[in-house]
Amino acid sequence: MSDPSPRIRRSDPEAIAEAAAILKAGGLVAFPTETVYGLGADARDDAAVAGIFAAKGRPRFNPLIAHFGEWEAAEEDVVFDARAERLAAACWPGPLTLVLPRRPDCRISLLCSAGLETQAVRVPDQAVARALLRSVGRPLAAPSANRSGRISPTAAQAVESELGKAVDLILDDGPCRIGLESTVLDLSGERPRLLRPGGLPLERLIDLLGEVPEARAANAPLASPGLLESHYAPQTPLRLDAAAATAEEGLLAFGPDVPAGAAMTLNLSPSGDLTEAAANLFAYLRRLDAAGLPAIAAMPVPEQGLGHAIRDRLRRAAAPRPAPAPHSTP
Ligand code: TXA
Ligand code: MG
Repeated sequence: MSDPSPRIRRSDPEAIAEAAAILKAGGLVAFPTETVYGLGADARDDAAVAGIFAAKGRPRFNPLIAHFGEWEAAEEDVVFDARAERLAAACWPGPLTLVLPRRPDCRISLLCSAGLETQAVRVPDQAVARALLRSVGRPLAAPSANRSGRISPTAAQAVESELGKAVDLILDDGPCRIGLESTVLDLSGERPRLLRPGGLPLERLIDLLGEVPEARAANAPLASPGLLESHYAPQTPLRLDAAAATAEEGLLAFGPDVPAGAAMTLNLSPSGDLTEAAANLFAYLRRLDAAGLPAIAAMPVPEQGLGHAIRDRLRRAAAPRPAPAPHSTP
């Protein structure tokens, strides 16, 4: 795709140095991770972090993940118990976010915690992200680089179309390897709680924990504001578990047996590979959304491996969308 935006730069060392300078000066830089592109700011700079909320139109009650270059650096700001140490050792760098108690001397802006006593932390497994973190020398607060409630970007061009001028620079390192956001696990309480299935397959997480993490009960108060039902949403209505699409609909297909007749068909993985499907999911949702069709029909995806997270995102993309009302969430 040709790229007219002056904000997008190939992530060579010079661009990374420029990005680091912008971040140190309190600016916003979108950068690639192995999961999705993040909208980064210096996590210790209140004004810079406030800029993230403004750029995304994100409600202030929705906390942000702090990204670190090394696990050791995260230990300065949050408390790791034995479980957290075991998971960090096994999964970092990688697509796992841990929600942990803030240390009393935590230097991460309180805005990142959105009034909670916990801070979400992760060490991304992506060369450009790590080079940037090293160069800035401070943790970066970074939500997915989309407008609040919309589909996460897995390519630099998608960041540009989501955020445009609201971001100072977009580091382009091509499509994200995993394509789904990190798994978010709350280890601040007695029992581990899965706040968001994601890029770390659920079976692997259960294996590492030695138990099945609690999930949020359907009517429980929000443990994680990002659990809002409608999220990851295209503008086009989406229906789930479709066996086929009508002649007007777009079909988000999966696997070798795809019904004919849709207005447009994109197959997440013709061979039925869930890793491939995860990597394609958000880009295909964007393309189907951009086609201006009356509806998107999504075929079922198996409930295993990354399929848990894919189904979660599709379910939320299909959820009814109330007008944004920050204080009326269940
Ligand atoms: O893969 C990812 O996690 C990407 C890349 C850029 O790292 N980031 C990302 O951030 O997806 P965001 O803000 O779009 O999603 C973070 C999720 C949200 O659902 C948020 O509510 C939840 O994590 N979260 C963050 N801090 C939390 C906390 N202290 N307690 C509970 N949930 C938290
Ligand atoms: Mg997000």
